[in-house]
Amino acid sequence: MELKGKTAVVTGSARGIGREIALHLAKAGANLVISDVNEDAGLQVIEEIKRLGQKAIWVKADVSKSEESEKLIQTALSTYDRIDILVNNAGITRDNLMMRMSEAEWQSVINVNLTGTYNCIRAATKSFMKQKSGRIINIASVVGQMGNPGQANYAASKAGVIGLTKAVAKEFAARNINVNAVAPGFIQTAMTDNLPDKARETLISFIPLGRLGQPEDVAKAVLFLSTEASAYMTGQVINVDGGMVM
Ligand code: NAI
Repeated sequence: MELKGKTAVVTGSARGIGREIALHLAKAGANLVISDVNEDAGLQVIEEIKRLGQKAIWVKADVSKSEESEKLIQTALSTYDRIDILVNNAGITRDNLMMRMSEAEWQSVINVNLTGTYNCIRAATKSFMKQKSGRIINIASVVGQMGNPGQANYAASKAGVIGLTKAVAKEFAARNINVNAVAPGFIQTAMTDNLPDKARETLISFIPLGRLGQPEDVAKAVLFLSTEASAYMTGQVINVDGGMVM
């Protein structure tokens, strides 16, 4: 699973799953664009990638804003001339029961998780089309497939990401651009760290493999979807969830 000479853009790559994806792609030989709203953590990832012997640049961008997503893609293209892999990983949660969910909670999650994915794909479309190759990997969630109480906004955004993935896969297939999604289950990151013990135990009881996943479990699936090993796959959702959805 070689990526020598390839360029990858990973959104939300300052920490958690995105950081691990960036490190896995760099270890396979790719040069990276690290992008996030968290500059301090993002710059640390840049240093880690440089220590691996790969090139990495930092672009601060809020993917929910179309002009910042455009700047991210343009900076990547002007630095490396091309983008081979775009990983739409940036995501947030603002959980609340539907009865109490404010419009701000609803809209902010849709704006980052779904519109952010659209913004980055749209900004990169022309260059992908021109070069007639590329990989787009969107990070969805099992919650977009199963639903989850308290996460109507998040579930809708991730189900949207799955629909977006399939539509774009069909549109881009003739240009040799593969578009796939990864749907993680419950992965141990800052996003899941503040679950109360009781909720964590209940959750684990629904996971056939009997444990939370690690960011590297997701990163390995993204690495696979970035390489020639997955050349004949497009429009797919790969679940990395310990067997929660089967
Ligand atoms: P995290 O909260 O540790 O990392 C998310 C990163 O995205 C952070 O660095 C954050 O600063 C960045 N970010 C937030 N808003 C942004 C914006 N508007 N523009 C650019 N960057 C932004 O979360 P984690 O767990 O690493 O999640 C990564 C992705 O995986 C998300 O899309 C999440 O929905 C998805 N996921 C996570 C699961 C989990 O159990 N941790 C399960 C299923 C999916």
